[in-house]
Amino acid sequence: MAIASDRSIEAATRRIGEEIFHRAHACAPSIASIEYWQQFGMNWLTRDEDLKRRLFEFIAVLPSANGARHVAAELERKLTEGHRPLTSLPPPVLLAAMMCRPGSPLRGLVGATVRRASLTMAQQFICGATVEQAIDGVRRLRRQGMAFTLDVLGEAVHDDAVALTLQKRYIELIDRLSAVAPTWQRDRNLDEAPFGPLPRVNLSIKLTAIVNAMDPSQGERGVEAVLNRLRPILRRAQERGAFVNIDTEHHAIKNMTFEVFRRVLTEPEFRDWPDCGIVVQAYLRDARRDLMGLVDFARHRGTPIWVRLVKGAYWDSEIAEAHRLGVRPPVFTQKRLSDTSFETITRMMLEHVDVIRPAFASHNVRSIAHAMALERALDLPPRTVEFQMLTGMGNPLKRALVDMGQRLRVYAPFGDFVAGMAYLIRRLIENTANESFLRQSFERDADHAALLASPGSAEELDEPDAPPWPSKTIVQHPELAGVSG
Ligand code: FAD
Ligand code: 2OP
Repeated sequence: MAIASDRSIEAATRRIGEEIFHRAHACAPSIASIEYWQQFGMNWLTRDEDLKRRLFEFIAVLPSANGARHVAAELERKLTEGHRPLTSLPPPVLLAAMMCRPGSPLRGLVGATVRRASLTMAQQFICGATVEQAIDGVRRLRRQGMAFTLDVLGEAVHDDAVALTLQKRYIELIDRLSAVAPTWQRDRNLDEAPFGPLPRVNLSIKLTAIVNAMDPSQGERGVEAVLNRLRPILRRAQERGAFVNIDTEHHAIKNMTFEVFRRVLTEPEFRDWPDCGIVVQAYLRDARRDLMGLVDFARHRGTPIWVRLVKGAYWDSEIAEAHRLGVRPPVFTQKRLSDTSFETITRMMLEHVDVIRPAFASHNVRSIAHAMALERALDLPPRTVEFQMLTGMGNPLKRALVDMGQRLRVYAPFGDFVAGMAYLIRRLIENTANESFLRQSFERDADHAALLASPGSAEELDEPDAPPWPSKTIVQHPELAGVSG
């Protein structure tokens, strides 16, 4: 395959990156918008790591708080517990804590206001509570020139009745969506790729949502339990022409997730089915091996598979878990290595497009621009590559990519607020992390040239790193086992 030199790919990456920034800034939220102040407020409140943890723990208990006064009591408790002196809180937070004290006449008012503000913030990351709202939401996305993948909120389920309900909800969703999808206006960018038509209905599933306590130590019995829950969903998707993506979750169940994916797709009824995909997490040291394993698998199966490349949403909890066990973390411990790994695997995926349908899920302009530059350098037809972003994140970037004629798919979770709490906390952690590309790039004094610089070279990925590993404080809440901030 003819390929341009690394230097020209680098130059193209920067040029494309500048164009994305330029277009995104043109549609960034204005200083007069609620969106702007929401982001500003979130950045301001989370500059202090200890306060950030307390606020996230408070948000996690919100759904169980009974009334405005209870919300106020929880807020006061979270802000004042431990040894943090009240006077160390930023003045507006200190004032809120004082007004939440027992006996304060403003307790109820502050509780109600804080609850409303927290719910508004949470809602930006989800596309509704019911199937009807989800269907309206994805219709709106299509009108804006964006494809979707719908996810039913829920994960790490420890109750078989709940898992069964979630499985049924996926099947219901396929039925309901496939009944209305033919009425949607055709959009060539969304409904066709160079390699053929694309299903309009696209779902993302976490395996820990549809089985009770997914556990690799159960061996074959555990795998069978997942397969039994997954097959009916895939069968219905196949019948109705829908697409299913299996999300990859924490590292402890990654191999089991991949095993389930490979097993089910080699069964005779699914062997020729091309509308199924899985996720590779570039922050894992194993990620390049994971990708090459999938390339070999797809070649052996004889039907292409989709791969969504992400950096990984569980970095903090992987670090915390490795600390707890006293082992080397499975993830890179320098952000730039995760970025480098993402670029290295981008190239590997684009060099195997005969068997890998490539989707790049990122809000990082450099990572996105690099994939676009490589697609051109490898002379692949436009829109071979699909980009994906999350609901409520990087909205100006989404607009920019659509305006540039790219195929953009939005991950749209919907459902119950409590079931979605772990998802929501991951988004809050991601949005407020100092190293977040999105956070850095839309600051007033953002240095685009530095942000678009190459993160490093593939050789660095194999260099040994040494302890001490970074440490993380877990956000304490029973619903959020393993979520850290
Ligand atoms: P960036 O700011 O460039 O990268 C942030 C990421 O870098 C962090 O999330 C982390 O992965 C990594 N990182 C941060 N600090 C460090 C450090 N010190 N050392 C090493 N690495 C670090 N994630 C999953 O795990 N599974 C999924 O199935 C999944 N599906 C997704 C689907 C879609 C459509 C999208 C958009 C995202 C999905 N994600 C999934 C989430 C994704 O992993 C995060 O949104 C993503 O990591 C943020 O990366 P970025 O490129 O947007 O931002
Ligand atoms: C997560 O649940 C989007 O799958 C990703 O965080």
